[in-house]
Amino acid sequence: MCVCHRTSFAELKEAGCTSLEEIQAQFGCGTGCGSCLPYLKLYVETGETAFPVLSAPWMASRQKGPSSA
Ligand code: FES
Repeated sequence: MCVCHRTSFAELKEAGCTSLEEIQAQFGCGTGCGSCLPYLKLYVETGETAFPVLSAPWMASRQKGPSSA
């Protein structure tokens, strides 16, 4: 899942990581190129480990919201 830090969702689950902060602290995922961040956020939100390829417009829509105004 995270190519930069060679980490799979299975490893995150096994470690019991339930927040993005924990994942970044323990594995560094999302701190490299950042390509895995949308998938990490979905993993934290849903607990799922398989996702379709996320489109750029979909990812942009997720970054907008009340807190980013
Ligand atoms: S793929 Fe996870 S930081 Fe690059």
